Amino acid sequence: MMTGNFPVNAFGHIETPFYYYDMDLLRKTLETIKAETSRYGFEEHYAVKANANPRILQTIASYGFGADCVSGGEIEAALEAGFPADKIVYAGVGKSDKEIRLGLTSGISCFNVESEAELLIIEELAAELNCQARVALRVNPNVDAHTHAKITTGLKENKFGINLEQLESVLKTLKTCQHLQWTGLHFHIGSQITDMTVFQSLVIRVMELQDELEAKGYTIANLNFGGGLGIDYQHPNHLAIADFEGYFKVFHQLVKRRNGQGIHFELGRAVVAPCGSLISRVLYVKEGVVKRFAILDAGMTDLVRPAMYDSYHRIENLNGLDEEACYDVVGPICESSDVFGKDRMLSKTSRGDLMALRSAGAYGEVMASQYNRRPLAKAYFSDQIH
Ligand code: LLP
Repeated sequence: MMTGNFPVNAFGHIETPFYYYDMDLLRKTLETIKAETSRYGFEEHYAVKANANPRILQTIASYGFGADCVSGGEIEAALEAGFPADKIVYAGVGKSDKEIRLGLTSGISCFNVESEAELLIIEELAAELNCQARVALRVNPNVDAHTHAKITTGLKENKFGINLEQLESVLKTLKTCQHLQWTGLHFHIGSQITDMTVFQSLVIRVMELQDELEAKGYTIANLNFGGGLGIDYQHPNHLAIADFEGYFKVFHQLVKRRNGQGIHFELGRAVVAPCGSLISRVLYVKEGVVKRFAILDAGMTDLVRPAMYDSYHRIENLNGLDEEACYDVVGPICESSDVFGKDRMLSKTSRGDLMALRSAGAYGEVMASQYNRRPLAKAYFSDQIH
């Protein structure tokens, strides 16, 4: 069995569970994204929601990325990590007045506005602060992302974005607002999308919309296509870097880019998921009647994705022998959904073995909770552990 390059001996003295980040892989990924986006003159804003660990944020900021934030807390974390304010975009269906004021006073690049009601509040608060707010309208393009229902956002009946039918009336309202500058359109249709034809459909729909709006006299200065590029959770060792080449090529080939038009992206998962693993220790091997359980000291409080979305994370025994056996890998939380994987073939496991739950760098540490009054898992970085 092939495992990632884990310094297992150095893990010996560290309290489990913990997050382990492969910083070489993160840097290689960032270099790949940079190479692809600069080839086409695209702008990348890292989606902070995927992982807001300060060290991860600083590393990403140091490659010149912008940031995509969805709360005041994320704007603060992004600024602290060194993302320039004029490269921060701010989305979210429920921005509070306090958060909007923070965005305005920090001078962020733009608010991705999700409703007419929100637009009018931003106008009011910008007037109060006597400043101009740059706003993009998030539009619901009604494109099916063919992904998990809980992470699809581009369909008509979602709470996100402005419906196509209502877009023109919101644009008309925007024109009457004296403290708002319209910067363009924003889209995000879902997450963990591995089928490139989904992104093709998105661009085709957006190009139709662009033609329609231009015919009515609107000029779209910026198009932001959001995030959503998926990763291969099944084979983290073989395909450690997502298909950024294929992804950006879709946009290069299909976007009819207008003169001087900015093309923006907000990738999260594909940037950070592969570089992170949750490392946990086996507390007990429990032999049932028909099943054998490996009970870990990590649970859904540390990595909630399997319990919340039935997500697959590859599990590897870092100490195991060649001989394999079948396990249900579970956590210690008092919830029957606290299961990381059922019927997994793993190298034979005993108490004390270290297990790696792979591809946990996105929506892992950042979604942890303290349910059952558990402490939050710490994070360690490959360039600090030898
Ligand atoms: N932009 C917007 C407006 C978003 O809502 C999201 C993610 C992104 C960008 C980044 O998408 P990505 O490139 O990471 O797919 N917790 C779920 C995923 C939720 C995604 C929410 N929005 C999970 O663990 O699968």
